[in-house]
Amino acid sequence: MSEIINIVNAKVWVKGKILEGGITIIGDRIAKIGKESALKKAERTFDAGGRLLLPGFIDVHTHLRDFELSYKEDFSSGTTAAVAGGFTTVLDMSNNKPPTMTPEIVRARIQKAEGNLFCDVGFYATPRSPKEVDNLVDSGCIAMKIYMSKPLDYERYSTEREIIELIKKTSSAGIVLSVHAEDPNMIKRFKGDLSPELHARSHPIKAEERAIDMVIRASKISGGKLHICHVSTLEGLNKIKSAKRKGVDVTCEATPHHTVLTNEVFEKLGKKSIVEPPLRSKRHMEAILKGISKGDVDILVTDHAPHTLGEKDGGSPGFPGLETAVPIFFTLVRDGLLTLDRVIDAFTINPAERFSLPDAGKIEVGRMANLTMINLKSERKIDSDKFFSKSKFSPFDGMVVKACVHATFIRGRAVFLDGEIVSSKKAGKILHG
Ligand code: DOR
Ligand code: ZN
Repeated sequence: MSEIINIVNAKVWVKGKILEGGITIIGDRIAKIGKESALKKAERTFDAGGRLLLPGFIDVHTHLRDFELSYKEDFSSGTTAAVAGGFTTVLDMSNNKPPTMTPEIVRARIQKAEGNLFCDVGFYATPRSPKEVDNLVDSGCIAMKIYMSKPLDYERYSTEREIIELIKKTSSAGIVLSVHAEDPNMIKRFKGDLSPELHARSHPIKAEERAIDMVIRASKISGGKLHICHVSTLEGLNKIKSAKRKGVDVTCEATPHHTVLTNEVFEKLGKKSIVEPPLRSKRHMEAILKGISKGDVDILVTDHAPHTLGEKDGGSPGFPGLETAVPIFFTLVRDGLLTLDRVIDAFTINPAERFSLPDAGKIEVGRMANLTMINLKSERKIDSDKFFSKSKFSPFDGMVVKACVHATFIRGRAVFLDGEIVSSKKAGKILHG
């Protein structure tokens, strides 16, 4: 018989509202939701201490690395960081070494990840050409991404025609096409070691705006499903907003760094602040925050992009983000800048629906008991020395956050609790289409 566990004394997020009570988990699934008197008789009880009990958080933009990049992060360390950061599902990006571009590589990643995961993982791939889409889907990837300005291996998706052809294929396979939208023709290729200022100048606002414009046109013409990664500019977001109003099937995501940091940190953080797309001025940062609060930004992501400190000194773009994103966004809630429902939806139901993850996104009887418990009464400073990720730096180091992840449950069991990994069992599974 499956074990019966009750989580009690919780503020349970059900259908967009808080229910004071708890849930019963039988085996790995949610069996009952309600006031404590309505729950089943359990063998074990977990007291939530009045904290928020939410559907397991989803990050559709994680770079887990592994293989030749295992020195930066691997499946085990990356998914440990994920559960420590409150995520129960992550989607792994394709810009790996070797890049995730062929069915063989997708299968190799799945094989190596199996049994090595603390949370559930789905894999992105980047097709070399539209013809490859179906084979990649058959090999087990569940998402597709293209890098317009930085091809992984000479694939070309920088014209409207190329994108129309691809998005038709991905959409008929039931997959939303994710795009790193920067127009390669607008990227300025400066020589040598780039300062953060010069790096930002090489990725101008116009590059994002033009790329977004073009992929939106491709989506509109083809009727295909489009997702814009890490929107970072006011102009880009405005294009997305107006396309949505006209009925184009487009969604977008935002990162914590584009929501709370500006290029004013360049001087203090030096090359550690380099990221693509770059940090922008206050005008853009405020637009992203407003976009989240209005619901124009659909999904919140980490863009967890681990690097060594030596690589950061050499100008590698990106930050580890799995262990900072949730505390930062809930701090914005505590500060009254975002509402609870916007942040929760953008980490749960919105990514679950857009990326077709049928078992995730809601606390509902019958669903997998992947859950995130948040403490809104904590206060601490971000300290990257304490990260579970191999990548121990953060542009947020020293920032005071007013919320933390108290516990993360995978398949009904706490794997992360009060700062520690409490289960040696790697209960995460690979998500197949
Ligand atoms: O900053 C970034 N880092 N942007 C990207 O597009 C790639 C990522 C990485 O993989 O390091
Ligand atoms: Zn990324």
